[in-house]
Amino acid sequence: MKILVTGGAGFIGSAVIREIINNTDYSVINIDKLTYAGNLNSLTSVDKDDRYSFEQIDICENIEIRSALNFHKPDVIIHLAAESHVDRSIDGPREFIQTNIIGTFVLLQEARLYWDNLRGVKKNNFRFHHVSTDEVFGDLMNSDELFDEDSVYAPSSPYSASKASSDHLVRAWNRTFGLPTIITNCSNNYGPHQYPEKLIPVVILNAIAGKGIPIYGNGQQIRDWLYVEDHAKALIKVALEAEIGETYNIGGHNEYSNIEIVETICSILDKEVPDGPSQINHYKELITFVEDRPGHDLRYAIDASKIKNDLGWSPAETFESGIHKTIRWYIENQDWLDKLQLRNQSIKKIYQGKET
Ligand code: NAD
Ligand code: TYD
Repeated sequence: MKILVTGGAGFIGSAVIREIINNTDYSVINIDKLTYAGNLNSLTSVDKDDRYSFEQIDICENIEIRSALNFHKPDVIIHLAAESHVDRSIDGPREFIQTNIIGTFVLLQEARLYWDNLRGVKKNNFRFHHVSTDEVFGDLMNSDELFDEDSVYAPSSPYSASKASSDHLVRAWNRTFGLPTIITNCSNNYGPHQYPEKLIPVVILNAIAGKGIPIYGNGQQIRDWLYVEDHAKALIKVALEAEIGETYNIGGHNEYSNIEIVETICSILDKEVPDGPSQINHYKELITFVEDRPGHDLRYAIDASKIKNDLGWSPAETFESGIHKTIRWYIENQDWLDKLQLRNQSIKKIYQGKET
């Protein structure tokens, strides 16, 4: 079995690749452009394995995608490559439209061409699994409401709108061309190797460095947090076992407000790193309320009962166990961060200033 992963140098994609190499017999082909968010250092534990290969390709480049598909002949595609950070999508939406919509379109067209030319079992078993987000559903107002697979699409940010568009394209390619697709919509992930622009790594790293911990608005927004390795396991299960045309919501049953997340991390750090920055007694003294994100979604929460009932998946980590592992990982992996910073100094800053 050969699985082609797009975006495999990113936070979730690298967890999927580590899971495939460490816990299955399958081969994996990583297709990644290596944007600022792509980091091959997240794969050093598996990249010497004969079952792993890497191609630096932009998913918008149809000829390169075509050659890679024809050369590697994958059985399954798990498509994660995307621009993924809401704040960047507000400052500069163009790259989100390009990669998330055009890139997905190119990949669908090339997958269709490739699949059309397959024969027999290889054709029957082929799957295109598109990895998406719960943010396509917009936000929930009532505290007891949950997103399920029938929730209406109502994205709020350029990021979520671009992901919603890509979901629609995937559905259309299934319905119109018969391409065997599956879609998953997942809640917020956290864990090792997450780029330090998302809430949890920002909080951990700023706290340790004695810098202000920025909370947007009043910090009462709620997210449902899933440990990244649980998501990786769910994605592989769905890609291999789900019925064609299905969609699954994936979530952690861990709803917390941003302020609760920040305070939890601060109190763990008080115990784990007591000899912290000299100017403070407790990490929570670093909390700084800053200007809110425009269009900020209030609450996301997932009903993950369908994937549990159909495929027997549920998360293994509680938020407590996952957040302890995550904090420890960032404390112990300064090297990963240093290499990331060094590399990104040489990447042109595309997102400076707002686009017109
Ligand atoms: P990430 O930003 O960490 O990684 C994205 C990866 O895609 C990077 O390695 C980057 O180099 C690559 N990439 C970007 N543009 C590309 C292009 N044009 N061609 C090829 N590669 C390209 O993102 P992530 O957090 O790992 O998210 C992965 C996927 O999961 C995304 O599709 C995202 O929408 C979805 N998702 C993320 C979360 C989350 O909480 N992070 C939750 C639900 C769904
Ligand atoms: P983020 O990690 O960017 O994920 P998403 O926007 O996809 O949910 O943000 C999670 C929540 O944390 C979101 O409500 C915005 C908030 N946030 C802060 O309050 N401060 C920060 O520095 C960041 C990055 C996010």
